Amino acid sequence: MSVRKSEQEDIKVLNIRIEKTTNPKPLPTPENPLKFGTIFTDHMFIMNYETGKGWHDARIVPYQPIVLDPAAMVFHYGQEMFEGLKAYRADDGRVLLFRPDMNAKRTNNTNKRLCIPELPEEDFVEAVKAVVKMDEAWVPTKPGTSLYIRPFIIATDPFLGVRPSDTYQFIIILSPVGPYYPEGLDPVKIWIEDDYVRAVKGGIGEAKTGGNYVASMAAQVKAHDEGYSQVLWLDGVERKYIEEVGAMNIFFKINGTIVTPMLNGSILPGITRNSVIALCKEWGLSVEERRVSAQELVDAYEAGTLEEVFGTGTAAVISPVGALRYENRVMQIKDGSIGEYSQKLYDTITGIQLGKIKDTRGWVVEVK
Ligand code: PLP
Ligand code: COI
Repeated sequence: MSVRKSEQEDIKVLNIRIEKTTNPKPLPTPENPLKFGTIFTDHMFIMNYETGKGWHDARIVPYQPIVLDPAAMVFHYGQEMFEGLKAYRADDGRVLLFRPDMNAKRTNNTNKRLCIPELPEEDFVEAVKAVVKMDEAWVPTKPGTSLYIRPFIIATDPFLGVRPSDTYQFIIILSPVGPYYPEGLDPVKIWIEDDYVRAVKGGIGEAKTGGNYVASMAAQVKAHDEGYSQVLWLDGVERKYIEEVGAMNIFFKINGTIVTPMLNGSILPGITRNSVIALCKEWGLSVEERRVSAQELVDAYEAGTLEEVFGTGTAAVISPVGALRYENRVMQIKDGSIGEYSQKLYDTITGIQLGKIKDTRGWVVEVK
């Protein structure tokens, strides 16, 4: 029996049990710049799932280790998913989320692909709001900082056969963060990978699951060793077409047109990507979602029409790309300076997220 009582949106249905910490940690001090993902708040959200019973026992408890059977299926077959979103502190003190409904929808798309039971979208958003509200004091105020929210689901059946688990835990942890890249808004160097492959159509590339990230690590280590921040993946079949970066979608401005790889089943449908496309269209720019080959970038670079390159993601926001390495050649973009549209998109998206720019699209949700 599930604890859900209502299908209506905006009505609290989870009956979240709350156990407050008796041992609160000191908040980070503004003098120490926040890194990405190294410290965690006082509480976490947990909810269990069992076949026949549904999602149940929603609770907020002190941040603590989780105890799992060593045979828990997540450890052996990787049946797990995760999401990433942020809470922002507006100048007037309000705490704002950016498009959490999109993370809830993407959770269920991921879950379907990984045979994880779906989670009602309104429950996802309610759980996020509740745990952020509980640790509201941890939402930092300095420019460029936010509270990163990491919801995830793990398969917990103690069983060594390969099949979907019958039990799961949905957990949300929170981490006050600064910029994802040490470069901040300075342009990053990106390595176009033509040896390793991250994902193929029909695989799990469009799901947000750990398997895609472990698949990317060997190339990322190689790129780091060569002095590059991230890998830009090519398609796994022809190894010709641009897909996405390790933790971002990618955009190009080619001869005045904003171009980004179309969603083809093997790349993550980014929420920032979706927002950037919407904004560029509103600004009257021509936007193309289509296949983009690495050779097209080389040709545009040589013709002087590769005008801007930037990545988009929750953690990274808008990340200008200053150099792209492909097959032993390095394309320098805008002499390492930030492009006009990268800057305008960064200012607009962070402006909306922080409540400085009026939200006319229903993207911002206040945590009250
Ligand atoms: N692609 C990958 C592989 C990612 O990990 C991310 C980060 O979430 C993105 C793209 C960007 O997605 P979003 O804008 O929803 O954060
Ligand atoms: C995000 O941008 O939220 C991500 O999930 C990237 C992450 C792998 C740090």
